[in-house]
Amino acid sequence: MSSAGTADLLRLEGVTAGYGDGIVLDDVSLSIAPGESLAVLGRNGVGKTTLLETIVGNTRLRRGSVHLGGRDVTRLSPHARVRAGLGWVPQEREVFPSLTVEEHLTVVGGGGPWTVARVYEVFPRLAERRRNYGNQLSGGEQQMLAIGRALMTNPRLLLLDEPMEGLAPIVVEDLSRRVVALSREENLTCIVVEQHPIVALTLSTNALFLERGQVVHTARSEDLAGDHETLDRLLGVGDEPEGAEPAGAQGA
Ligand SMILES: Nc1ncnc2c1ncn2[C@@H]1O[C@H](COP(=O)(O)OP(=O)(O)OP(=O)(O)O)[C@@H](O)[C@H]1O
Ligand SMILES: [Mg+2]
Repeated sequence: MSSAGTADLLRLEGVTAGYGDGIVLDDVSLSIAPGESLAVLGRNGVGKTTLLETIVGNTRLRRGSVHLGGRDVTRLSPHARVRAGLGWVPQEREVFPSLTVEEHLTVVGGGGPWTVARVYEVFPRLAERRRNYGNQLSGGEQQMLAIGRALMTNPRLLLLDEPMEGLAPIVVEDLSRRVVALSREENLTCIVVEQHPIVALTLSTNALFLERGQVVHTARSEDLAGDHETLDRLLGVGDEPEGAEPAGAQGA
């Protein structure tokens, strides 16, 4: 076991964490090997964002450890974790109204493989919008910018918190394709938090379900995509009251 975990890009062991005196995550363990990507699924308020915030180092850790690329980052600040290879795309996209697209990107540029030009290759729309201010962008453009800004920190592991929230279906489709291409072509590992399982499962190789801060189920994404029973049970998708009437029930 001496080399256990050294091959994993990310490894959480027995992580219990929360905010102030409150505990949200309860004994969470997970690992992601290079080339894998993880969907974190679960209903509202189960601790999905808190899991990402804990990986980034923004919560109060009570027990357990976080390893990134074989290195123990449990005691490192969020800033140091970003330097160690974590790219963070928060749920609130944190796009600034008074900065242009290009300024958002150059502010974080840190002398690695990712440059503004490469971000524009991944998201040509951002190149067209380079002189526009944050408050002139659509929701989809803001999300591309939030991802582009995270790429500028040259991450090995990209954390995406509900990247498709509030976006039109056609934008979701386009953005999904780009994120999948990113993780394949740029050899970038992603953790995607999503409430919508179909999107999350197309973006990931593995999936994990949270319930009240605990991991209650894990599966391969491709297996889960067709497993409606499990999705229904853990997410309550497909709950359609009007369809739930027993056969033979008669409306007057
Ligand atoms: N900054 C905070 N301070 C205190 N409690 C918090 C904070 N952020 C979240 N919580 C609490 O932690 C629990 C989990 O919240 P979290 O945001 O992680 O859930 P989530 O699964 O991301 O939910 P959603 O699907 O709504 O985004 C909730 O009870 C929430 O009230
Ligand atoms: Mg959340």
